[in-house]
Amino acid sequence: MSVDVTVIGLGYVGLPLVQEAVRAGLVVRGFDINGGVVDALNAGHSHIDDISDDELAEILSGGFEASTDEAVIADADTVVICVPTPLGEDGGPDLQAVEGSVHAIARNLTPGTLVILESTTYPGTTDEVVRPILEAGGLTAGTDFHLAFSPERIDPGNAQFGAKNTPKVVGGYTPECGDMAAAFYGRFVDTVVRAKGTREAETAKLLENTYRHINIALVNEMARFCHDLGIDLWDVIDAAKTKPFGFQAFYPGPGVGGHCIPIDPNYLSYNVRAKLGYPFRFVELAQEINTTMPAYVVQRAQDLLNEDARAMRGATVLLLGVTYKPNIADQRESPAVPVARQLLDKGADVRFHDPHVSSWSAFGDVVPCVPDLDAAVREADLVVLLQNHRAYDVAALAAASHRFFDTRGVAAPGDRVHRL
Ligand SMILES: NC(=O)c1ccc[n+]([C@@H]2O[C@H](COP(=O)([O-])OP(=O)(O)OC[C@H]3O[C@@H](n4cnc5c(N)ncnc54)[C@H](O)[C@@H]3O)[C@@H](O)[C@H]2O)c1
Repeated sequence: MSVDVTVIGLGYVGLPLVQEAVRAGLVVRGFDINGGVVDALNAGHSHIDDISDDELAEILSGGFEASTDEAVIADADTVVICVPTPLGEDGGPDLQAVEGSVHAIARNLTPGTLVILESTTYPGTTDEVVRPILEAGGLTAGTDFHLAFSPERIDPGNAQFGAKNTPKVVGGYTPECGDMAAAFYGRFVDTVVRAKGTREAETAKLLENTYRHINIALVNEMARFCHDLGIDLWDVIDAAKTKPFGFQAFYPGPGVGGHCIPIDPNYLSYNVRAKLGYPFRFVELAQEINTTMPAYVVQRAQDLLNEDARAMRGATVLLLGVTYKPNIADQRESPAVPVARQLLDKGADVRFHDPHVSSWSAFGDVVPCVPDLDAAVREADLVVLLQNHRAYDVAALAAASHRFFDTRGVAAPGDRVHRL
């Protein structure tokens, strides 16, 4: 049977892509090495926040099937790679999953196939890593098969922008490869944007995330000195963002989390250093500022307890919201973990509450989840809002608490209510 597209890696990125392609009437298959993920998907259970079980049922009734058998690659006109690209121990990108999936494609590559890499990675990966593996079997990119890079821009939990209405950047190994990839995405994405080549498309993604990372670091650094100067930075940002041009608001917080912002800029700085021998200073400085925010939050927590003549050791500290962004369950790289770890190391009695998380640990130590939020807020010596989930009535929680430390700038400051 002819398959329009096989998606490799059925996670946060792969599954929304499957959804849009199925909705547009394409014949779609999925390949993943995790048998548990494949079985759960085929049985109608979604493991992704943005895809409900009802939506998965719609995808399955549209003919989608997931498989652990790489033979599903051979039937496909287009193969899209959406596998993880974590950081390796040396701080550079770990491309094992990309290489593993490209070897699987190479074993099943047929002439005329379009291969697209979507995983975030350093510039040159498509040309220098993916292409040689695919060409080892004797077929040539740009002649016998097509090759392109198209960065994934999905923003989990974003109700306004999804896979269909977020413009899709595409860079081909050759202009013809770019044409093929643009035509493929044009079947189910509203706007396709052509980059000059694969390196430009790879770097565009890294520019976007580096821009966010650096601007968050800027306001995080400002948060520290504005506090010392007695200036309300949240008020400053509200004023500055009324400028209708040339300014975009970024907000301070307890650190940056998620799979992209704290990680992707490292691909670029690692690559610049490895290839050119000099540092990408903006990224390294932003990294330094953002990774020390959890320690800053703990220091401020200690200062607030001090106001009540309480030592951190033995104090009950309740953390509200431990995911990396609001209203989703994803905890990857969440700064709540180093915050909890450092509070525990100072002897605090740490508890947490999160409407999306039932059990949680901070580098090995299980942190107890409070069964009754209102009672726990009343009992804690200090309540720290780390994530502003929609489910929280922050004003009521702050009013009921003994001391409230708001790292998200949503509570009205008062005698016992403090903002980062
Ligand atoms: N999650 C996001 O918000 C987001 C946004 C933009 C870009 N990205 C990028 O997209 C890529 C994928 O991220 P994700 O969040 O979807 O990851 P994920 O962990 O949710 O899913 C990846 C899936 O790939 C599978 N996999 C791993 N190795 C494989 C292999 N060799 N063959 C087949 N399947 C394999 C895993 O089992 C997993 O199910 C990463 O490069 C990431 O940086 C992610």
